[in-house]
Amino acid sequence: MIPRPLIIDCDPGVDDAIALLLALASPAEFDLLGVTTVAGNVPLSLTTANARRICHLAQRADVPVYAGCPRPLLRSLTTAEDIHGATGLQGAALPEPALPLPAQHAVAFLIEQFTTASAPITLATLGPLTNLAVALIQCPKIAQGIDRVVIMGGSLGGGNVTPAAEFNIYVDPHAAKVVVEAGLPLTMIGLDVTHQVVTTPERLTALENLGTPVGKAAAGMLRYYGQLDVERYGLAAPPLHDPCVVAYLLRPDLFTGRPMHLAIETEGSLCLGRTVANAYPTAAAPANATVIETVDAEGFYTLLTERLGKL
Ligand code: BDR
Ligand code: CA
Repeated sequence: MIPRPLIIDCDPGVDDAIALLLALASPAEFDLLGVTTVAGNVPLSLTTANARRICHLAQRADVPVYAGCPRPLLRSLTTAEDIHGATGLQGAALPEPALPLPAQHAVAFLIEQFTTASAPITLATLGPLTNLAVALIQCPKIAQGIDRVVIMGGSLGGGNVTPAAEFNIYVDPHAAKVVVEAGLPLTMIGLDVTHQVVTTPERLTALENLGTPVGKAAAGMLRYYGQLDVERYGLAAPPLHDPCVVAYLLRPDLFTGRPMHLAIETEGSLCLGRTVANAYPTAAAPANATVIETVDAEGFYTLLTERLGKL
Protein backbone atom coordinates (compact mmCIF):
# COMPACT_ATOMS: atom_id res chain seq x y z
CA MET A 1 0.00 0.00 0.00
CA ILE A 2 1.28 3.46 -0.89
CA PRO A 3 0.76 5.87 2.04
CA ARG A 4 -1.74 8.64 1.29
CA PRO A 5 -0.10 12.10 1.16
CA LEU A 6 -1.73 14.10 3.95
CA ILE A 7 -1.56 17.57 5.51
CA ILE A 8 -3.34 18.31 8.78
CA ASP A 9 -4.51 21.88 9.45
CA CYS A 10 -5.40 22.28 13.12
CA ASP A 11 -5.71 24.38 16.29
CA PRO A 12 -4.59 22.08 19.16
CA GLY A 13 -6.73 21.86 21.31
CA VAL A 14 -7.10 18.56 23.14
CA ASP A 15 -9.11 16.72 20.48
CA ASP A 16 -6.79 18.07 17.75
CA ALA A 17 -3.90 16.60 19.75
CA ILE A 18 -5.56 13.17 19.87
CA ALA A 19 -6.25 13.41 16.12
CA LEU A 20 -2.59 14.26 15.47
CA LEU A 21 -1.46 11.30 17.59
CA LEU A 22 -3.76 8.97 15.63
CA ALA A 23 -2.27 10.20 12.34
CA LEU A 24 1.32 10.14 13.63
CA ALA A 25 0.75 6.53 14.73
CA SER A 26 -0.30 5.50 11.22
CA PRO A 27 2.77 5.82 8.96
CA ALA A 28 1.73 2.87 6.77
CA GLU A 29 -1.44 4.72 5.76
CA PHE A 30 -0.29 8.37 5.83
CA ASP A 31 2.64 10.19 4.35
CA LEU A 32 2.20 13.17 6.69
CA LEU A 33 3.79 16.02 4.73
CA GLY A 34 3.26 18.62 7.40
CA VAL A 35 1.00 20.09 10.05
CA THR A 36 -0.29 23.63 9.67
CA THR A 37 -1.71 25.63 12.56
CA VAL A 38 -4.34 28.32 12.84
CA ALA A 39 -5.75 30.46 15.63
CA GLY A 40 -8.85 28.83 17.10
CA ASN A 41 -9.17 26.99 20.39
CA VAL A 42 -6.30 29.13 21.71
CA PRO A 43 -4.20 31.86 20.04
CA LEU A 44 -1.82 30.91 17.23
CA SER A 45 1.36 30.95 19.33
CA LEU A 46 -0.16 28.24 21.55
CA THR A 47 -1.69 26.10 18.77
CA THR A 48 1.70 26.14 17.02
CA ALA A 49 3.64 25.25 20.17
CA ASN A 50 1.11 22.52 20.98
CA ALA A 51 1.35 20.91 17.54
CA ARG A 52 5.13 20.76 17.94
CA ARG A 53 4.76 19.35 21.46
CA ILE A 54 2.56 16.55 20.11
CA CYS A 55 4.94 15.67 17.25
CA HIS A 56 7.76 15.54 19.80
CA LEU A 57 5.69 13.34 22.14
CA ALA A 58 5.07 10.95 19.23
CA GLN A 59 8.80 11.02 18.40
CA ARG A 60 7.99 12.27 14.92
CA ALA A 61 10.52 15.08 14.53
CA ASP A 62 10.34 14.38 10.78
CA VAL A 63 6.91 16.07 10.54
CA PRO A 64 7.27 19.85 10.13
CA VAL A 65 4.80 22.27 11.74
CA TYR A 66 4.03 25.58 10.00
CA ALA A 67 2.33 28.52 11.70
CA GLY A 68 -0.60 30.00 9.79
CA CYS A 69 -3.16 32.77 10.20
CA PRO A 70 -3.37 34.47 13.61
CA ARG A 71 -7.00 35.56 13.18
CA PRO A 72 -10.13 34.93 11.09
CA LEU A 73 -10.70 36.75 7.77
CA LEU A 74 -13.20 39.33 9.00
CA ARG A 75 -14.22 38.62 12.57
CA SER A 76 -12.18 38.93 15.72
CA LEU A 77 -10.94 35.65 17.18
CA THR A 78 -13.19 33.57 19.46
CA THR A 79 -11.27 31.01 21.54
CA ALA A 80 -12.33 27.99 23.63
CA GLU A 81 -10.22 27.90 26.79
CA ASP A 82 -13.32 26.77 28.68
CA ILE A 83 -13.10 23.46 26.81
CA HIS A 84 -9.32 23.02 26.31
CA GLY A 85 -7.80 24.94 29.24
CA ALA A 86 -5.63 28.06 29.15
CA THR A 87 -2.76 26.29 27.37
CA GLY A 88 -5.02 24.41 24.93
CA LEU A 89 -3.71 21.08 26.20
CA GLN A 90 -4.83 21.08 29.81
CA GLY A 91 -4.29 17.75 31.55
CA ALA A 92 -1.00 16.93 29.81
CA ALA A 93 2.26 18.18 31.26
CA LEU A 94 4.27 18.40 28.06
CA PRO A 95 7.64 20.17 27.89
CA GLU A 96 8.35 23.27 25.82
CA PRO A 97 8.46 22.36 22.11
CA ALA A 98 11.87 21.10 21.07
CA LEU A 99 11.18 20.97 17.33
CA PRO A 100 12.25 23.98 15.27
CA LEU A 101 9.60 26.20 13.67
CA PRO A 102 10.24 26.78 9.95
CA ALA A 103 10.03 30.39 8.75
CA GLN A 104 7.63 29.51 5.91
CA HIS A 105 4.01 30.57 6.52
CA ALA A 106 1.43 27.76 6.58
CA VAL A 107 -0.45 29.29 3.63
CA ALA A 108 2.75 29.39 1.55
CA PHE A 109 3.43 25.76 2.53
CA LEU A 110 -0.09 24.70 1.46
CA ILE A 111 0.22 26.50 -1.88
CA GLU A 112 3.69 25.04 -2.50
CA GLN A 113 2.58 21.51 -1.67
CA PHE A 114 -0.68 21.59 -3.67
CA THR A 115 0.95 23.11 -6.76
CA THR A 116 4.05 20.90 -6.87
CA ALA A 117 2.72 17.54 -5.64
CA SER A 118 3.27 14.53 -7.89
CA ALA A 119 0.04 13.02 -6.54
CA PRO A 120 -3.03 14.87 -5.14
CA ILE A 121 -2.87 15.50 -1.41
CA THR A 122 -5.59 14.98 1.19
CA LEU A 123 -6.17 17.87 3.59
CA ALA A 124 -7.69 17.21 7.03
CA THR A 125 -8.97 20.39 8.66
CA LEU A 126 -9.59 20.32 12.41
CA GLY A 127 -9.98 24.03 13.13
CA PRO A 128 -11.29 27.25 11.56
CA LEU A 129 -10.80 27.22 7.78
CA THR A 130 -8.80 30.46 7.54
CA ASN A 131 -5.56 28.96 6.16
CA LEU A 132 -7.26 27.04 3.35
CA ALA A 133 -9.47 30.01 2.42
CA VAL A 134 -6.46 32.33 2.17
CA ALA A 135 -4.57 29.73 0.11
CA LEU A 136 -7.57 29.42 -2.26
CA ILE A 137 -7.84 33.19 -2.61
CA GLN A 138 -4.10 33.62 -3.24
CA CYS A 139 -3.81 30.69 -5.62
CA PRO A 140 -7.08 29.13 -6.89
CA LYS A 141 -5.20 26.52 -8.90
CA ILE A 142 -4.26 24.69 -5.68
CA ALA A 143 -7.60 22.89 -6.20
CA GLN A 144 -5.84 20.71 -8.80
CA GLY A 145 -3.46 19.38 -6.17
CA ILE A 146 -6.15 18.52 -3.60
CA ASP A 147 -7.46 14.97 -3.52
CA ARG A 148 -10.11 15.68 -0.86
CA VAL A 149 -10.68 18.02 2.07
CA VAL A 150 -12.14 16.34 5.13
CA ILE A 151 -13.49 18.90 7.56
CA MET A 152 -14.38 18.59 11.23
CA GLY A 153 -16.95 21.31 11.48
CA GLY A 154 -20.57 22.18 11.23
CA SER A 155 -23.67 20.27 12.16
CA LEU A 156 -26.87 19.03 10.60
CA GLY A 157 -28.68 19.92 13.82
CA GLY A 158 -27.78 22.48 16.44
CA GLY A 159 -24.46 24.13 17.19
CA ASN A 160 -22.16 24.19 20.19
CA VAL A 161 -21.00 27.81 20.36
CA THR A 162 -24.43 29.18 19.54
CA PRO A 163 -27.70 27.27 19.10
CA ALA A 164 -27.04 27.40 15.34
CA ALA A 165 -23.27 27.18 14.84
CA GLU A 166 -20.44 24.77 15.53
CA PHE A 167 -17.15 26.31 16.80
CA ASN A 168 -14.85 25.84 13.78
CA ILE A 169 -17.35 27.34 11.35
CA TYR A 170 -18.51 30.04 13.76
CA VAL A 171 -14.97 31.30 14.38
CA ASP A 172 -14.41 31.99 10.67
CA PRO A 173 -17.67 31.64 8.73
CA HIS A 174 -16.35 33.69 5.81
CA ALA A 175 -13.41 31.33 5.37
CA ALA A 176 -15.81 28.37 5.52
CA LYS A 177 -17.91 29.97 2.79
CA VAL A 178 -14.84 30.40 0.55
CA VAL A 179 -13.93 26.72 1.07
CA VAL A 180 -17.43 25.32 0.57
CA GLU A 181 -17.91 27.33 -2.64
CA ALA A 182 -14.52 26.40 -4.12
CA GLY A 183 -15.75 23.25 -5.85
CA LEU A 184 -13.33 20.98 -3.97
CA PRO A 185 -14.10 17.33 -3.17
CA LEU A 186 -15.32 17.90 0.37
CA THR A 187 -16.36 15.69 3.28
CA MET A 188 -17.95 17.23 6.36
CA ILE A 189 -17.93 15.52 9.74
CA GLY A 190 -20.06 17.55 12.10
CA LEU A 191 -21.35 17.46 15.65
CA ASP A 192 -24.05 14.91 14.75
CA VAL A 193 -21.23 12.40 14.23
CA THR A 194 -18.76 13.50 16.88
CA HIS A 195 -21.41 13.40 19.60
CA GLN A 196 -21.76 9.66 18.86
CA VAL A 197 -18.10 9.15 19.81
CA VAL A 198 -18.04 9.74 23.55
CA THR A 199 -15.09 9.01 25.84
CA THR A 200 -16.65 6.73 28.45
CA PRO A 201 -14.65 5.85 31.59
CA GLU A 202 -13.94 2.37 30.12
CA ARG A 203 -12.55 3.85 26.90
CA LEU A 204 -10.45 6.34 28.89
CA THR A 205 -9.09 3.54 31.07
CA ALA A 206 -8.12 1.55 27.98
CA LEU A 207 -5.99 4.49 26.81
CA GLU A 208 -4.49 4.96 30.28
CA ASN A 209 -3.69 1.25 30.51
CA LEU A 210 -1.42 1.54 27.48
CA GLY A 211 1.01 2.64 30.20
CA THR A 212 3.07 4.67 27.73
CA PRO A 213 3.85 8.42 27.80
CA VAL A 214 1.42 8.86 24.89
CA GLY A 215 -1.33 6.84 26.59
CA LYS A 216 -0.87 8.79 29.82
CA ALA A 217 -0.86 12.16 28.04
CA ALA A 218 -3.96 11.24 26.01
CA ALA A 219 -5.86 9.99 29.07
CA GLY A 220 -4.72 13.03 31.10
CA MET A 221 -6.02 15.45 28.50
CA LEU A 222 -9.28 13.58 27.93
CA ARG A 223 -10.00 13.32 31.64
CA TYR A 224 -10.13 17.10 31.79
CA TYR A 225 -11.67 17.81 28.40
CA GLY A 226 -15.30 18.22 27.42
CA GLN A 227 -17.01 17.97 30.81
CA LEU A 228 -18.98 21.11 29.97
CA ASP A 229 -20.41 19.35 26.90
CA VAL A 230 -21.57 16.42 29.04
CA GLU A 231 -23.65 18.71 31.23
CA ARG A 232 -24.84 20.91 28.37
CA TYR A 233 -25.99 18.15 26.01
CA GLY A 234 -26.82 15.42 28.51
CA LEU A 235 -24.29 13.09 26.89
CA ALA A 236 -23.05 9.91 28.58
CA ALA A 237 -19.46 11.21 28.33
CA PRO A 238 -17.48 13.92 26.47
CA PRO A 239 -17.60 13.88 22.64
CA LEU A 240 -14.36 13.51 20.68
CA HIS A 241 -14.53 15.64 17.54
CA ASP A 242 -11.32 15.97 15.54
CA PRO A 243 -10.04 12.36 15.66
CA CYS A 244 -13.15 11.41 13.66
CA VAL A 245 -11.54 12.99 10.59
CA VAL A 246 -8.38 10.89 10.87
CA ALA A 247 -10.38 7.76 11.71
CA TYR A 248 -12.54 8.38 8.64
CA LEU A 249 -9.42 8.51 6.45
CA LEU A 250 -8.12 5.30 8.03
CA ARG A 251 -11.40 3.38 8.19
CA PRO A 252 -14.15 4.92 6.02
CA ASP A 253 -16.10 1.69 6.54
CA LEU A 254 -16.81 2.83 10.12
CA PHE A 255 -18.81 5.81 8.82
CA THR A 256 -21.86 6.45 6.65
CA GLY A 257 -22.85 9.62 4.85
CA ARG A 258 -24.62 11.11 1.86
CA PRO A 259 -23.99 13.73 -0.81
CA MET A 260 -25.64 17.03 0.14
CA HIS A 261 -25.62 20.67 -0.84
CA LEU A 262 -23.78 22.61 1.82
CA ALA A 263 -23.95 26.37 2.39
CA ILE A 264 -22.65 28.64 5.16
CA GLU A 265 -24.66 31.41 6.78
CA THR A 266 -22.53 34.55 6.93
CA GLU A 267 -25.20 37.25 7.08
CA GLY A 268 -27.59 36.61 9.94
CA SER A 269 -26.75 37.41 13.54
CA LEU A 270 -28.73 34.56 15.14
CA CYS A 271 -27.49 31.89 12.71
CA LEU A 272 -24.01 33.21 11.85
CA GLY A 273 -21.78 30.24 11.03
CA ARG A 274 -24.56 27.72 10.56
CA THR A 275 -23.92 24.93 8.04
CA VAL A 276 -27.10 24.64 6.02
CA ALA A 277 -27.14 21.17 4.45
CA ASN A 278 -29.72 20.03 1.94
CA ALA A 279 -29.94 16.25 1.62
CA TYR A 280 -32.14 16.72 -1.46
CA PRO A 281 -29.88 18.70 -3.80
CA THR A 282 -31.38 20.47 -6.80
CA ALA A 283 -30.00 21.44 -10.20
CA ALA A 284 -29.60 24.98 -8.92
CA ALA A 285 -27.95 23.82 -5.69
CA PRO A 286 -26.22 20.52 -6.50
CA ALA A 287 -24.39 18.31 -4.02
CA ASN A 288 -21.03 19.84 -3.13
CA ALA A 289 -20.07 17.71 -0.13
CA THR A 290 -20.36 14.28 1.37
CA VAL A 291 -21.90 14.81 4.80
CA ILE A 292 -21.16 12.06 7.30
CA GLU A 293 -24.06 11.03 9.51
CA THR A 294 -23.10 7.93 11.51
CA VAL A 295 -20.03 6.31 13.03
CA ASP A 296 -19.36 2.93 14.65
CA ALA A 297 -18.17 4.27 18.02
CA GLU A 298 -16.83 0.92 19.29
CA GLY A 299 -14.83 0.47 16.08
CA PHE A 300 -13.54 4.02 16.43
CA TYR A 301 -12.23 3.54 19.99
CA THR A 302 -10.74 0.14 19.17
CA LEU A 303 -8.82 1.78 16.31
CA LEU A 304 -7.75 4.75 18.44
CA THR A 305 -6.47 2.65 21.32
CA GLU A 306 -4.70 0.16 19.09
CA ARG A 307 -2.94 2.91 17.12
CA LEU A 308 -1.94 5.04 20.11
CA GLY A 309 -0.49 1.85 21.57
CA LYS A 310 2.04 1.84 18.73
CA LEU A 311 3.58 5.16 19.74
C1 BDR B 1 -14.39 21.75 17.33
O1 BDR B 1 -14.16 22.90 18.10
C2 BDR B 1 -12.95 22.81 18.78
O2 BDR B 1 -13.06 23.26 20.09
C3 BDR B 1 -12.52 21.35 18.71
O3 BDR B 1 -11.11 21.26 18.65
C4 BDR B 1 -13.16 20.87 17.44
O4 BDR B 1 -12.32 21.08 16.32
C5 BDR B 1 -15.67 21.11 17.81
O5 BDR B 1 -16.74 21.99 17.68
CA1 CA C 1 -9.98 21.63 16.57
